[in-house]
Amino acid sequence: MINIAIDGPAGAGKSTAAKMIAKELGFIYIDTGALYRSIGIAVLRKGLKTDNAQDVISVLPEVQLSLKFVDGEQRVILCGEDVSRDIRLPEASMAASNVSAIPEVRSFLLDMQKKFARENNCLMDGRDIGTVILPDAELKIFLTASAEVRAERRYKELIEKGTPKDYNELLEEIKLRDYNDSNRAVAPLKPADDAVIIDSSEMNLEEVVSKIVSLAKEVIK
Ligand code: DC
Repeated sequence: MINIAIDGPAGAGKSTAAKMIAKELGFIYIDTGALYRSIGIAVLRKGLKTDNAQDVISVLPEVQLSLKFVDGEQRVILCGEDVSRDIRLPEASMAASNVSAIPEVRSFLLDMQKKFARENNCLMDGRDIGTVILPDAELKIFLTASAEVRAERRYKELIEKGTPKDYNELLEEIKLRDYNDSNRAVAPLKPADDAVIIDSSEMNLEEVVSKIVSLAKEVIK
């Protein structure tokens, strides 16, 4: 099986680009952030705190997670319920970032991610895919952009959705999540030594997609 890892900070456009790339290559796309988001939601639903390790660990034995693919779209099933929509709620982002710093959560999700990669030609995005989950991936990409550009993109996206938010607030949120994700002790956000680093600050989506597709075609042939 051929595996492609795409890592990078929040808002770099990984998932939008990854979906298009996977479609073009005929690979399945696995969004691993959705797994951390689902655990975050499970903790919040219990009325517990996502930044309290004991709280989070106490919920893990009850968490049953699986992924389903409907027309190529990933759905996350948490204890029998499709939570794909709830994990996109704003509170799920910081909840995911909090739970993802807990080693027990990371090891809980490890086998599931590795198994998908063993069984499928897949493109997986996250923070530690190239460094921890798929260290032998045929291609590793680290997709980044400046915090200001990422906040600006998010700002425009929210205006289009009809749910605008203050730009400075978005910028602060992005910087806080970058800090949390990059400074945790286990599997912090960082490029793998052999990753191709793509800074998309000055690139549009099509340029990012075509660059990664051409890199992928070199390793697939
Ligand atoms: O990609 P995302 O925004 O859906 O990810 C949500 C959080 O989950 C992110 O802040 C960090 C964490 N995460 C992680 O630690 N490792 C991954 N492979 C994917 C996400």
